[in-house]
Amino acid sequence: MITIKAPASSANLGPGFDTLGLSLGIFNILEAEKSDESRLVIEGEGSRYLPVGDDNLVLRSIAIFYKEILKSSPPKLDIKMVNNIPLSRGMGSSAATIVSGVVLANEISGKGFSKDELFVLASKIEGHPDNVAASIFGGMTIAYSDLSGDHHKANSFQPQEELQIVLLIPGASLSTLEARGTLPEKIGYQDATFNLSRVALLVKTLLSGDLNLLGPALEDKLHQPYRTKLMPDLEKTIEICKKAGAYGAALSGAGPTVIAFTSLSQREAVLASIKDRLSGRDFDLTVIPCEVDRYGVRIERS
Ligand code: HSE
Repeated sequence: MITIKAPASSANLGPGFDTLGLSLGIFNILEAEKSDESRLVIEGEGSRYLPVGDDNLVLRSIAIFYKEILKSSPPKLDIKMVNNIPLSRGMGSSAATIVSGVVLANEISGKGFSKDELFVLASKIEGHPDNVAASIFGGMTIAYSDLSGDHHKANSFQPQEELQIVLLIPGASLSTLEARGTLPEKIGYQDATFNLSRVALLVKTLLSGDLNLLGPALEDKLHQPYRTKLMPDLEKTIEICKKAGAYGAALSGAGPTVIAFTSLSQREAVLASIKDRLSGRDFDLTVIPCEVDRYGVRIERS
């Protein structure tokens, strides 16, 4: 039996659109073994409506690995997927599913590809590299491509030990495609410069700086302002997090989840204060604490 655990992730982190990712301690878990019959059972998030046939994203990812790498079809597999990552909430559920699929295919085929090689294939399947990078490598990741734009690469680092997360997860989902549809074709120099300064400040702060700088470091002008068309309460939600004592907050990926940052010593107080400030308001949000996942996808054999 092979068990794969692929973490959820938060992409962008405010200014780092399609670039920065943070691995979250919430997992998509696959338990799989070769079998006489193909079978996929899903438990957890999406279990009532996710397909279990060839159009399932795990099965598609395994099939793409075999087709692209081995020019063959995958063997019959008995797979149980336990998905703890809410779907279409900006928490990298599709990236974690793809990552668990290609890592499983790598294990059962015995190809022994490195995480760097699997990252290239998984990013191609996902269409953008930021969530995939975080789910594969863990910690904080910086995804980039070569000058042609065709070849994705990623670099990871561990953010400060003290960093803790609070997630504000809306009840309603939002498709990434729809959220990307709100973005303009072109952006201006001033906005680009604004974001460049924030990304530099954000990376420095997460590595070793004063976490109070996360307030300005998480600001963004490239995607969040446009996405408020679909998420009119975004600004208010970020403000609530800050007033509750969080260092700062941002849209998680394409949304609609908001990710807020705090410290180990402040986490419970910030969590309680966010919940308190939201009570009585018409915001359908589940507020949960979350750890940074520092390892990325892992594999166990039994
Ligand atoms: N960087 C992507 C976006 C993340 O913002 O559209 C999608 O999860």
